[in-house]
Amino acid sequence: MKIFDKENKISSLVSTNSNLLPVINRFGIQLGFKEKTIAEICAEKNVNPDFFLAIVNTYTNENYFPEEELLEFSPLLLIDYLKTTHKYYNEYVLPKIERLLDAVMKTCRENCSSLKMISTFYQKFKVELHIHLTQEDEKVFPYIIDLYHNRRLTEGKTIGAYEDEHTSVEEKLSDLKNLAIKYLEPTYDSNAMNEFLQTLFQFEKDLYDHARIEDLILVKQVMRIEESLKTNAAR
Ligand SMILES: [Fe+2]
Ligand SMILES: [Fe+2]
Repeated sequence: MKIFDKENKISSLVSTNSNLLPVINRFGIQLGFKEKTIAEICAEKNVNPDFFLAIVNTYTNENYFPEEELLEFSPLLLIDYLKTTHKYYNEYVLPKIERLLDAVMKTCRENCSSLKMISTFYQKFKVELHIHLTQEDEKVFPYIIDLYHNRRLTEGKTIGAYEDEHTSVEEKLSDLKNLAIKYLEPTYDSNAMNEFLQTLFQFEKDLYDHARIEDLILVKQVMRIEESLKTNAAR
C-alpha cells in the first residue's frame, strides 16, 4: 500500500482513496486541488503537514500506524481533529443513514417486522454513539485540555476508564449489519437497502479508524502526561 509524503500531489491522494475526501475536508481542504502538492496545500491552509500525513496514511493503510510520530503531536491538535469528526458524524453521517433507512422502510409493503427490528437496532446504536460522542466532547476532551495546560492531576480522574469504551458502540453497529445481512425478509427495494447498507459499512470503517486514533494515540499521550505528573508528585 502506498504511503503518501509531502511531495505527492493532493489530487493523487483522492484518486487513490476517495474515502479520504471527508477526512481531507475536516482539515478545511476542499476540491479544486490543481497540481498542488500536500506540502503546498497544507502551507496555504495553515495545517501541520506531518500531522495531516499521519492521519491520511492511517486511514489509507490498515497496517500503517505511526504511533511514535503521532505521539509527538500536541493532543490539542488531535482533539481539534476528533471534534470536527464528531460534528461530521452528528450533522452529516447519522442524518444521512436515517434518511436512507426511512427510504427503505417506505418501500416495504408487507411482512416488515424484520425491517422494523433493524430500525430499532439502529436507534439503540445511535443513542449509544450519541452518549459516547457527547461524553468525549463534554468530559474527556476538556479533561485532557485542562491537564495539558495546567499540568495538574485531579483527584479521582484519569484517562484509564475511557480506554475500552469503543467496543460496545462497534458491537452494536456490527449487530445491526449482521441482522440486515443474515435475517432480513426480502420485502423491500433492494437498491434502497443496498445504499443504506453500503453507507453503514463505510461509517463502520470511519468509526473504527477514529477509535483507533483515540485509543492508540490520544489515550497513550494522556497516560504519558499523567505518569510524568505522578512521578513528579512522588519526588
Ligand atoms: Fe471520538
Ligand atoms: Fe471515541
